Amino acid sequence: MIARVRPARRLEGEVRLPGDKSISHRALMLNGVADGEARVTGLSGGADVASTAGCLRALGVEIEEGRVAGRGLDGLREPAGPLDCGNSGTTMRLLAGLLAGRPFPVTLVGDGSLSRRPMDRIAAPLRLMGARADTAPLRVGGVAPLHGVTYESPVASAQVKSAVLLAGLSAEGVTTVVEPAPTRDHTERMLEAMGASVARDGRSVTVTGPVAALQPLDVDVPRDLSAAAFWFVAAGLHARAHVRLPGVGVNPTRTALLDLLESAGVRVEQLRPRLAGVEPVADLEVGTTAGARAFEVAGTAAAELIDELPVLAVAAALLPGTSRITGARELRVKESDRVAAMTAGLAAMGADVTELDDGWEIRGPRHLEGARVASAGDHRVAMALAVAGLLADGETEIEDAECVDISYPGFWDQLEALCT
Ligand code: S3P
Repeated sequence: MIARVRPARRLEGEVRLPGDKSISHRALMLNGVADGEARVTGLSGGADVASTAGCLRALGVEIEEGRVAGRGLDGLREPAGPLDCGNSGTTMRLLAGLLAGRPFPVTLVGDGSLSRRPMDRIAAPLRLMGARADTAPLRVGGVAPLHGVTYESPVASAQVKSAVLLAGLSAEGVTTVVEPAPTRDHTERMLEAMGASVARDGRSVTVTGPVAALQPLDVDVPRDLSAAAFWFVAAGLHARAHVRLPGVGVNPTRTALLDLLESAGVRVEQLRPRLAGVEPVADLEVGTTAGARAFEVAGTAAAELIDELPVLAVAAALLPGTSRITGARELRVKESDRVAAMTAGLAAMGADVTELDDGWEIRGPRHLEGARVASAGDHRVAMALAVAGLLADGETEIEDAECVDISYPGFWDQLEALCT
């Protein structure tokens, strides 16, 4: 499908964002191995979370209308065939951790994009824990029990951290992950609330195993801040805009985006701060910003903004001054090579962008012109280029636009509804 985006005179209204993707995956997986039943509301309706639900069902977990019937840590059953993780790196990596200590072997497969993504980053630490873990295809399980290790991860990745911690639940002794930079902590929060013994100290997290049982945890999933990022940039940089986003997750390991936007002069108001279970949420509002300017992302800061960098690159093209986004080599191994995909898309629209090994240098402000651009089948690239199209002159055509369903079904309809 090709999506066509035209500039709008006004961008106004309330946006019901999808449920947070990271929290949705974890709410299903962890409740799937809890001892009892939990209610999960507000789950992401995206294809990635459906992949997690499908894999869990193949492992014997009943999931129906927000009810998850946990089978206990030892209760998963051997699936009849390979588990299909679709496009979802989180599904594949976290499930590999959860399944590494099972007595039966499991093969995890995915689509073309996921099959190209690096899995050694989880297979290596799982092997250190005594697990069997082969890659291409990814195969884990069949050797139990595992043993705890201290793992200094060379990559700042919540998926790696979570995979090792989940393996640690059924390992003998203490499993510690030390991260090079802090990443989202949804796994730790949920495990603590479910009664696992979790200790945190700066950049290190420890789980002591084997955990006898996880208590089921009802989860009211906050709306996704990474999905909100598209509207922050669209509304902040539009001449006549005001967008309201109720019930969005504002976990401090995710809000570097709000600080960065503020440093660039785009202010996102946080109203009615509250807790949804173990996660902070707020109603967010953003509107036309005067005097926004270039910004810099460098070093470990990129890890905290990793999913928002494509749309921040769009902002950089339109803001006065030279923006540099570096330290983001991880973008090259996401659902697509996001550095290359955004360089191509923005350059086609007239942006002054230089591709770096680990990010971009972008000189603004440039007047963007509508063009036909490739999403590379990557949901975040498609939505970032849609925002560029909204802020450009003329019509922008985005190829393979259906890929937004990975994280944000309804995105195109909402875009149309907000534009007048
Ligand atoms: C995620 C972690 C991040 C992020 C992804 C979701 C998670 O990936 O890009 O969209 O839910 O743990 P990495 O941990 O590989 O950086």
